[in-house]
Amino acid sequence: MPAGFKSSDRSYATLVVGAGSGIGRAAAEFLAAQGAAVGCVDRNGDSAQEAAEAIRRAGGQAVAETADVTEEATVAPAVDRIARSLGPVQALVNCAGVTGRTNVKAHEVDLADFDAVCRINLRGALVLSQAVLPQMLSQKYGRILHVASIAGKEGNAGMTAYSASKAGLIGLVKSMAKDYAETGITINALAPAVILTPMVEALPQATVDYMTAKIPMRRCGTLEEVSAMIAWIVSPACSFTTGFTFDLSGGRATF
Ligand SMILES: NC(=O)c1ccc[n+]([C@@H]2O[C@H](COP(=O)([O-])OP(=O)(O)OC[C@H]3O[C@@H](n4cnc5c(N)ncnc54)[C@H](O)[C@@H]3O)[C@@H](O)[C@H]2O)c1
Repeated sequence: MPAGFKSSDRSYATLVVGAGSGIGRAAAEFLAAQGAAVGCVDRNGDSAQEAAEAIRRAGGQAVAETADVTEEATVAPAVDRIARSLGPVQALVNCAGVTGRTNVKAHEVDLADFDAVCRINLRGALVLSQAVLPQMLSQKYGRILHVASIAGKEGNAGMTAYSASKAGLIGLVKSMAKDYAETGITINALAPAVILTPMVEALPQATVDYMTAKIPMRRCGTLEEVSAMIAWIVSPACSFTTGFTFDLSGGRATF
């Protein structure tokens, strides 16, 4: 295995969930270019296949699986198939997420939309963690990274469901990390500000302008910046940090 990933005479899998688009797709390609064998997972199976094919075309190792993090019955079998194909899962990068309805004040939030956002962004993170932790516990090593958001640290106006789900995710990570702190498994979150992806392109311009105006660097983050940070957080080198929410906000958050 190349430097930066757990070296061993056997192979291990790095799972990227939400690999079909945006941050997940970029992270999957970046990790594969560094030598990781990547399991590309998405509820959109065609996009997961496209990501895996792009990695293989570039000379990397990848397989694709379709799974929806809201349907736990689809997650565990997908993880098992990836482990059988690429080796035990050493790292999980969870990029599956949705904003739900935005530009809507709290008193107008549709409760069904709130539940749906939390089911993906928060409950889905627990479902994924539960699917990989048994393997990580048996190998006494693992890296779990859930992509949260600056919205979870600070709250974004008009994004009640999204902000609450991401704040919940940050709390989930803090708690789970302590459960496994002595096991060789680290569990962290990442809180990006605005990164130009299909998710952001689908938002109302007013929402994007509001979020971007709050960034002291006065620009969006790039997919290269977010991928490089993800790759480091799930590498063996990042070994004394757990339960933490890494910042990637161009100075918006200094905590
Ligand atoms: N782009 C940003 O500015 C930004 C900022 C902060 C946080 N984030 C977070 O980063 C993550 C990735 O965002 P993105 O901008 O790349 O979005 P994106 O919409 O481009 O990609 C998200 C991917 O997740 C998949 N997905 C959604 N729900 C799923 C489910 N239930 N099961 C499996 N897969 C599912 C989608 O099919 C899609 O391929 C999200 O959690 C998002 O909240 C993004």
